[in-house]
Amino acid sequence: MEYEASANRYEGMEYRRCGRSGIKLPAISLGLWQNFGDGDDFSRNEEIILHAFDRGITCFDLANNYGPPPGSAETNFGRIFKRNLKPYRDEILIASKAGYPMWEGPYGDWGSRKYLVASCDQSLRRMGLDYVDIFYSHRYDPHTPLEETMQALDYIVRSGRALYAALSNYPVEQFVRAAGILRDLGTPCLAHQIRYSMLVRETGDSLFGAQRDEGVGCISFSPLAQGLLTGKYLDGIPEGSRASRHGSLSEDFITENIEKVRALNELAQHRGQTLAEMAIAWQLTDNRVTSVLVGVSSKEQLTDNLSALDNRNFSTEESGRIEEILDR
Ligand SMILES: NC(=O)c1ccc[n+]([C@@H]2O[C@H](COP(=O)([O-])OP(=O)(O)OC[C@H]3O[C@@H](n4cnc5c(N)ncnc54)[C@H](OP(=O)(O)O)[C@@H]3O)[C@@H](O)[C@H]2O)c1
Repeated sequence: MEYEASANRYEGMEYRRCGRSGIKLPAISLGLWQNFGDGDDFSRNEEIILHAFDRGITCFDLANNYGPPPGSAETNFGRIFKRNLKPYRDEILIASKAGYPMWEGPYGDWGSRKYLVASCDQSLRRMGLDYVDIFYSHRYDPHTPLEETMQALDYIVRSGRALYAALSNYPVEQFVRAAGILRDLGTPCLAHQIRYSMLVRETGDSLFGAQRDEGVGCISFSPLAQGLLTGKYLDGIPEGSRASRHGSLSEDFITENIEKVRALNELAQHRGQTLAEMAIAWQLTDNRVTSVLVGVSSKEQLTDNLSALDNRNFSTEESGRIEEILDR
């Protein structure tokens, strides 16, 4: 049956200006790093993407290497987009990135102009798109002049392959230099993507300050610490969970943090929400974060995460208690 988007799709979502740009991002965006590869359930993923759009999520985050295999998340997203969302193209922001290993040889990794432009073309082909809305340099490359990487982003925008340029995982010093180069080129950096959650806070005030000073939006990824900030791991590692499937969430990290997670879970229960909701709500109140970029493996998880929007006021006591737990 032909998909028709919900008429109420913009009612429950908040849209926030991204830095000093003209674009607004949904307070919650959806990422396809994991669960959208070729081994995953296509119908479930179609359901997740359409549910996201029906609930006001207008920003979908991809990268050349998402899968597995690398590239398959873009191919699968492209199929879902073509089957359902094409008529809504102008209501949707689609992002991709290049910066991690993608193909053999010296031109399939890092930050050269050759790699970024070729990879962007491949991403467009996989997704069946004329352009992406946001194209990121996925990581800082210490062996390529920053000028070259930024000129490649500028070219990608000027040639119509992307509407905005963005950065991801840049250390503060390189972020400031890169944002300056992009500004001078006339293609200002739209956003910076960083790993940030209650359990991973090494970002530091200096990076947040630099993003604000540069007028660059902040997109926080892995806000649930890949699922640890949910009730899921309280009794061990469940079958089928990310930690059971993927090395990116290690048993050591879970063991180190599980007592904090228990204490946070109790507080969330007192607030009448799930831990996932509270962990996202905690970021929604942080005005340094433009959009909280979640991942999910089911529609139910996405519904849970979106409920964070309904209960995001923290009393002084609750905020104090959170700091106390996190500083342990
Ligand atoms: N720029 C970068 O370098 C970079 C790096 C990493 C991620 N990202 C982006 O950020 C996005 C999000 O990252 P992430 O997937 O690590 O985010 P996350 O939201 O911290 O973790 C997502 C995982 O947590 C579990 N989960 C989510 N909601 C849940 C709920 N309500 N209840 C129980 N479990 C829940 C699911 O794991 P299960 O599979 O166990 O169910 C889900 O796959 C990525 O898709 C990607 O777009 C960017």
